Amino acid sequence: MRRAIYPGSFDPVTNGHLDIIERGCKLFDEIIIAILVNPDKQPFFTIEERREMLQEVLETIAHGKCMLRVDAFEGLLVHYAVAQEANAIVRGIRAISDYEYELQMALMNRRLEPSIETVFMMPAETYSYVSSRLVKEVFMLGGELDGLVPSLVQTRMKERKS
Ligand code: PNS
Repeated sequence: MRRAIYPGSFDPVTNGHLDIIERGCKLFDEIIIAILVNPDKQPFFTIEERREMLQEVLETIAHGKCMLRVDAFEGLLVHYAVAQEANAIVRGIRAISDYEYELQMALMNRRLEPSIETVFMMPAETYSYVSSRLVKEVFMLGGELDGLVPSLVQTRMKERKS
């Protein structure tokens, strides 16, 4: 049983995240999409809203026999990963600029918990510039998000604004 944790803020989930999950499904039997509970950040969506959206959009992707579960966690990621009996942490790398931060995290996580491997995955080029941060910025300034986030996310964002 190969179980991976795919951690992140998912505020909101983007098509880039879904692309990584689909790819991860080719490698793992189960992926737990784990939303970080971060009391220091002012989020766009609450944890419950993010969890509900993720659950709904995960039903629309190709996951084969891979089980997908959505959860939320607090504290150290590696402690959570051990508690879930996971073998790996999955992170998406879009560009070289992501690499430095991701490498630091991966090496720190390895030092903290050598039994857990970090697996970096590349999303489709189409999503190489898509981030939750930019999605929120573009949305707040009235830009179109078609193709960047699932339509459910667009709808929820519009509801939030009105
Ligand atoms: O989607 P994000 O915001 O880039 O995800 C960052 C995340 C959740 C992977 C990272 O902040 C994290 O793992 N936080 C949990 C706290 C922790 O374990 N910190 C030490 C990391 S080396």
